[in-house]
Amino acid sequence: MINIALPKGRLGEKAYALLSAAGFGCATLPEDSRKLVFGAESGEVSYFWVKPADVTVYVERGAADAGVAGKDIIEENSPDVYELADLKIGRCRMCVAAKEGWFDDASRPLRVATKFVNVAKNYYAGLGRDIEVIKLNGSIELAPLLDLSDVIVDIVETGTTLKENGLKVFAEIFPVSARLIANKAAYNFKNSEMLALAGKLADEVRR
Ligand code: PRP
Repeated sequence: MINIALPKGRLGEKAYALLSAAGFGCATLPEDSRKLVFGAESGEVSYFWVKPADVTVYVERGAADAGVAGKDIIEENSPDVYELADLKIGRCRMCVAAKEGWFDDASRPLRVATKFVNVAKNYYAGLGRDIEVIKLNGSIELAPLLDLSDVIVDIVETGTTLKENGLKVFAEIFPVSARLIANKAAYNFKNSEMLALAGKLADEVRR
């Protein structure tokens, strides 16, 4: 039995649909009942829902054998886990965005608003640019509008949120999609089950 941490919300529902199509489904739609843990009929896997940013924590520490996490969360948390498959869902881009017409004043540190503090720090360290990170938990696009920051580092999917707020992408940091990740010890102890899970999912992704 492999227990899998799924991210609550749209991405988790898509991931579960993929798992279900790959033969790891349950009879009732799990997120409707507010049950946090549920098992597949086959008895091969069980699931639980967690906050998307927490999936890597559960998997790294072995509370979950495997999980589905966005590349954005993986880059931010840098968990010591195996990445087994690209599920090619939840695709978006990690970007730097700012108000149209913004230009960088290199004479002072750049104020960067973001949920992705480590991603922002690593990106700007690579560019040798001094920054001041302003950690926010949502509605990041507001920050440049209210002059709380010069730029934001955030995920962009359709670009609608940026457009509606007069912001535009100034740089793309990396592409994002959801990954199947595994706890390293669980991967070794439950190797054949893990390979079957990753293999069937990868087949379903290719379909
Ligand atoms: C994310 C992200 C952007 C938006 C991008 O926010 O932070 O705000 O989606 O999507 P778009 O390019 O399709 O407009 P989310 O919905 O996760 O909410 P948040 O404000 O809590 O971060």
